Amino acid sequence: MDSIQSLIKDLADEYGRRRESLLPILQGVVERENYLSEYSMIEIAREVDIPASEVYGTATFYSFLETKPTGKYIIRVCKTITCAMKGKTQMMFAIQDMLKIKLGETTPDNRFSLLESNCLGWCHKAPAMLINNEVYTELTPEKVRDILSGYMKQNGQI
Ligand code: FES
Repeated sequence: MDSIQSLIKDLADEYGRRRESLLPILQGVVERENYLSEYSMIEIAREVDIPASEVYGTATFYSFLETKPTGKYIIRVCKTITCAMKGKTQMMFAIQDMLKIKLGETTPDNRFSLLESNCLGWCHKAPAMLINNEVYTELTPEKVRDILSGYMKQNGQI
């Protein structure tokens, strides 16, 4: 068993082998590997026993695939309707301003990548974003700045 296979097996042991387990497993792989390779997706499909096309579909929906981000912290801002109506754009400006990157970019020190995502399932507390596996909700530009400062402090950036 190679390291990807054992990672996927551990994640499946932790999150289960059901359809609902797919997202946490995908996130777990992305967290360790920084992106999802075709090989990882095939292995996930085998481990969870669902069609590879479904793994691929889910991964694409959450845009884990297109971007191959390299940041240690991957920020995914929900771009779907409820979040869009509840201030997602202002939030996005606050992030871009603070990190000095645009959507789809990674900071030069490889700490942060900024992406958008489809609905994260937190519409009732919109707007929402993910930083790696952590969900942040009911965001405002001020809240976003506080959260990012926390991550930057952890890294001794400020
Ligand atoms: Fe953003 Fe659902 S629309 S979490």
